[in-house]
Amino acid sequence: MPLSIKDIQAPIAQEMKEFEQKFRKSMKTDVMLLDQIMRYIIHRKGKQIRPMFVFLSAGMNGGVNEATHRGAALIELLHTATLVHDDVVDESYYRRGFFSINALWKNKIAVLVGDYLLSRGLLLSVDNGDFGLLKIVSTAVKEMSEGELLQIEKARKLNISEEVYYEVIRQKTASLIASCCAVGAASADASEETVEKARLMGEKIGMAFQIKDDLFDYGDEEIGKPTGIDIKEKKLTLPLIYTLNQSEKKERDHIINLVKRHSDKPKKVREVIDMVKQSGGIAYTKSVMNRYVEEAFSLLETFPDSDYKEALKGLIRFTIERTK
Ligand code: IPE
Ligand code: IPE
Ligand code: MG
Ligand code: MG
Repeated sequence: MPLSIKDIQAPIAQEMKEFEQKFRKSMKTDVMLLDQIMRYIIHRKGKQIRPMFVFLSAGMNGGVNEATHRGAALIELLHTATLVHDDVVDESYYRRGFFSINALWKNKIAVLVGDYLLSRGLLLSVDNGDFGLLKIVSTAVKEMSEGELLQIEKARKLNISEEVYYEVIRQKTASLIASCCAVGAASADASEETVEKARLMGEKIGMAFQIKDDLFDYGDEEIGKPTGIDIKEKKLTLPLIYTLNQSEKKERDHIINLVKRHSDKPKKVREVIDMVKQSGGIAYTKSVMNRYVEEAFSLLETFPDSDYKEALKGLIRFTIERTK
């Protein structure tokens, strides 16, 4: 049976309800244009899995409190900021089932809106003295920028190895989900050791999460954002990296040539996607994704039993079974 977010949310339903209000409040502004865009963002909200990880990790490690709430809002603000910027970088015009900020208001405004969201997140923490939480999250944000830049560097040279791919996704995506679990535990005053264990578990989850995202790009399903865009952007992800590593030189050169010179032609992108499917690139990628999930489950098992822990199991499964 497919997992529903509603079931997973049961132990933190009240927290998520309060989160919505606090998140909205944290974006309030008197600047008219900004306010209009903030309302647009709130209206087109995402899955909000990051705040869920924060609350569940806090619950499992002693209980949710006000600092947990601020940590959840901080992370969702920063996540939203990076998505707004990411769509500028990727020249992507579709997000959460509708036009992206850069599609509607152009790049200049999208860059400033991303900066605004980031600064609101920072102020929320500074104003409340949440320096420990801020340190955890700032480290993640630094890594996200590094990961996106490493990805661009590799896209230009088209020479990304499997190892470097893991480093890119660990930085650009897993680090923030890792910080969700760490912030949750830290806000509940867990020991340093426990916070680190929670962070590592979140990192494994984040790896699986981005691999799932990269798999979506090879599908035809409607997921609320464009598919087939990674090859177009010369972003080599695991399915294609595996296929290249499996291929004879002649075939490899052919694929590289298609990505390098013809990635703006949908028919050529299709050809690459078909080759990836035939060579078992999708199946291999799924097996790697499942391995990360297993590692996350093993770490989760070391925490004390509770309803939160059960819900976390569901949320981890949702990470790879989701349809958007
Ligand atoms: C999208 O994250 C960015 C990636 C790390 C792939 P989500 O899929 O969690 O985005 P929303 O918030 O639900 O839209
Ligand atoms: C992850 O990369 C996005 C961030 C770390 C902000 P992608 O470029 O693959 O994410 P989507 O597919 O646009 O959501
Ligand atoms: Mg993108
Ligand atoms: Mg993607």
